[in-house]
Amino acid sequence: MAKKPVYILGIETSCDETGISLIAGFSGEVMNCKVVAEQLSSQIQLHQQWGGVVPEIASRDHVRRCIQLVDQTLLDAGVDKQQIDLIAYTAGPGLMGALFVGACVARGLAFALQKPFVAIHHMEAHLLVPMLESSHIKPPFAALLVSGGHSQFYGVQTIGDYSLVGETLDDAAGEAFDKVAKILGLNYPGGPAISALAEHGQVKYALPRPMCDRPGFDLSFSGLKTATLQLVRRLEADQCLEQEKANVAASFQEAVVDTLCRKADRVLKHLGLTQLVVAGGVSANVRLRQKLGELAEKKGYNFFYPPLAWCTDNGVMIAYAGWHKWQRQQISHQHSSGLEVRARWPLDSCSN
Ligand code: KG4
Ligand code: ZN
Repeated sequence: MAKKPVYILGIETSCDETGISLIAGFSGEVMNCKVVAEQLSSQIQLHQQWGGVVPEIASRDHVRRCIQLVDQTLLDAGVDKQQIDLIAYTAGPGLMGALFVGACVARGLAFALQKPFVAIHHMEAHLLVPMLESSHIKPPFAALLVSGGHSQFYGVQTIGDYSLVGETLDDAAGEAFDKVAKILGLNYPGGPAISALAEHGQVKYALPRPMCDRPGFDLSFSGLKTATLQLVRRLEADQCLEQEKANVAASFQEAVVDTLCRKADRVLKHLGLTQLVVAGGVSANVRLRQKLGELAEKKGYNFFYPPLAWCTDNGVMIAYAGWHKWQRQQISHQHSSGLEVRARWPLDSCSN
């Protein structure tokens, strides 16, 4: 007789995507789980006119969408609310108001259905989701988490044991893409916009590779952003910015990608590892994957990425992180416990 699946509902509302998913896990084997249904509502168009995410607009749109998307996900899955075994929700890091919306929906639903729940760390979910489709990823490995709010290297001893090796001292890589896109007059989010424009340009301008000239694993992108701004002003003054925009985009992207590759190589050497999981929104960058691929070939490394659809925020990664928690029995039945979400939440502090 087929085993009864464990149905996990994932709710992601940490920033500007309302992501809901239902996955089915099959107990006994961590890898054995599949996505049953998934809904994603992006707020990009709402924020575009402001050039970045407006927290209040984000919260309000999550309120509008969240319950409706939960209903649609269950309808698509053909699964009744009562069949849900676990509700996983993002509890941080992220925008407080936005996090509260998802947390309230998740905890309210868990209470009404008398089902267990689990608070998920958004970056742990990014880190784990590549494992959903690749059974080759086995700890120990290194992880590079590159998103709009984070740029960090971790050593992953086992699932749940994360040690920070290096991180950005200022802007995150995705944030730098977003800010430089704004400087170039491109739309939010900047990563895909710069990447698309760079395809029509050449790496013509020498921009800095921050923190590469000194030992260590930390990153910094705010100086690179300023150097790009100065370049743009110079080109503007010379009245040739329009025809040079694609070259600026290609040169900036190459500087970010090259810096991440050099540091990834350093981190792997330092940890004595050959496997690197790359996740978060910036891991969708084609040039980054290309250049890391060249590095992998040269040095005998193995790099793993999530499928493109799960690089940026989504509900699948939250449900999948919930599945790992279910396997470890790190879930809660305490419906009367306080509802806590965190804007900041270091991943190594929630190692278990
Ligand atoms: O992981 P994510 O959806 O949200 C956060 O947790 O921050 O990442 C969003 C970030 C944005 O800064 C966006 O510009 C960047 O990921 N991004 C990219 C690409 N696609 C998204 N950056 C570079 N190249 C891309 N193709
Ligand atoms: Zn994210």
